[in-house]
Amino acid sequence: MNGKQMRKIKVAAIGAGNRLNAYAEYARLYPKELEIVAVVEPNEVRRKYCADYFQIPAERCFTSWPQFFEFPRLADAIFLCTPDHLHYQPAMAALEKGYHILLEKPIAQTWQECMDIARKAKECGCIVGICHVLRYHPYFRKFRQIVESGELGEIISINHVEEVGIERMTHAFVRGLWRREDETNPMILSKACHDLDLMVWLSGRHCLEVSSYGSLKWFKEKNAPEGSTLRCTDGCLVERECPYSALRLYYRQKRWLRHFDIPEGKDPDSVIWQELKTGPYGRCVYRCDNDVVDHQVVSMLLEDEVTVNFSMDAFTKEGGRKTHIMFTQGEAFGDEKQLTVRYFLPDKADKVFDFSASFGECNFHGGADLYIVADFLQAIRGQKVSGLLTSIETSLESHRIAFEIEKKRVK
Ligand SMILES: NC(=O)c1ccc[n+]([C@@H]2O[C@H](COP(=O)([O-])OP(=O)(O)OC[C@H]3O[C@@H](n4cnc5c(N)ncnc54)[C@H](O)[C@@H]3O)[C@@H](O)[C@H]2O)c1
Repeated sequence: MNGKQMRKIKVAAIGAGNRLNAYAEYARLYPKELEIVAVVEPNEVRRKYCADYFQIPAERCFTSWPQFFEFPRLADAIFLCTPDHLHYQPAMAALEKGYHILLEKPIAQTWQECMDIARKAKECGCIVGICHVLRYHPYFRKFRQIVESGELGEIISINHVEEVGIERMTHAFVRGLWRREDETNPMILSKACHDLDLMVWLSGRHCLEVSSYGSLKWFKEKNAPEGSTLRCTDGCLVERECPYSALRLYYRQKRWLRHFDIPEGKDPDSVIWQELKTGPYGRCVYRCDNDVVDHQVVSMLLEDEVTVNFSMDAFTKEGGRKTHIMFTQGEAFGDEKQLTVRYFLPDKADKVFDFSASFGECNFHGGADLYIVADFLQAIRGQKVSGLLTSIETSLESHRIAFEIEKKRVK
């Protein structure tokens, strides 16, 4: 690549939490392509971590996004990874200033806001990429390639299951950040906009109609067992036999600690204990202020009479997606670890593709978090004729479907 094509892109990081750290890692791996030049983060531990990691000078570290946007433009683009309810306003402010944005999903909290951002991006001539990272995952790319190749004939229907997994469910959607619709979004948007996007992208068809059932059935006070207390640390009599114990998950097993800030030099046990005593993650799962669903089913009618059955389930031991696509000449199914292609003709052997190494907590969604950044940087440099794979224009459809589903959901 020539020097112009490889122009280093400068990015300001807004919301230096888990997602930002995954995308920003690209700057450490490819410092000639990307530099993180500013950070906006109210949490001192995370702001300092980001500033130290990327050597950002103090004058470019901010505690709030309005303060940041008062400054003249100091980067080409923004990585916008704030919580769901803080996407719309900073995104609009960034576009006003002419920043390109890599924006975490969901785009915003209402359909109107999603469209506003897309319109504003067009007006300002800015690129907005939405972090539908699964489109970049080698496993889902393989699925898409199989559909596109036509080797199995015409697509007829899809069965797709999003197994949220009980630990992710209680951590994120009962005790944690995505537990309330008013603070974030309905779960069909905050968790499953990825799945809705995949259905449209894999099938290559637009969605015409939806219907849905689902509710919050289990994680409610009326289901709290006798002897349970407000917090798992309050001497709960059933803590040891409760599959949702916060003490077991966070304190004894030291897992799912990604939203706990453990300052350097502090004893992790005492920080975790304090969080469980006072913070959201120590609460009894039956006594939180959660209102998002714990199970939901969706039917979708796509163009060309293609149908989709989609189910989002909290009550599974592990998390993951299972996809089964039926075609006129065969079928393709996978569980993210293996993808099998099976032909109806007896002389054609099954094909099995192994992806077991590419999913997991610490590998950036099988590299997808890094591929999306590479794609975004190329789009900014004008290297992509076809445009960004997950542009806001493309991503609007999954959001439109999610809002439609939520309207139709029979509670
Ligand atoms: N693409 C994916 O696969 C995926 C996965 C998980 C989460 N997400 C989305 O990414 C976003 C961030 O999620 P996360 O898991 O990184 O959460 P997080 O809590 O780890 O990070 C969010 C950060 O934003 C900071 N913040 C809060 N208010 C702010 C403000 N006013 N200005 C600047 N920063 C502020 C928080 O302090 C926090 O550090 C959410 O919208 C979430 O839905 C996407």
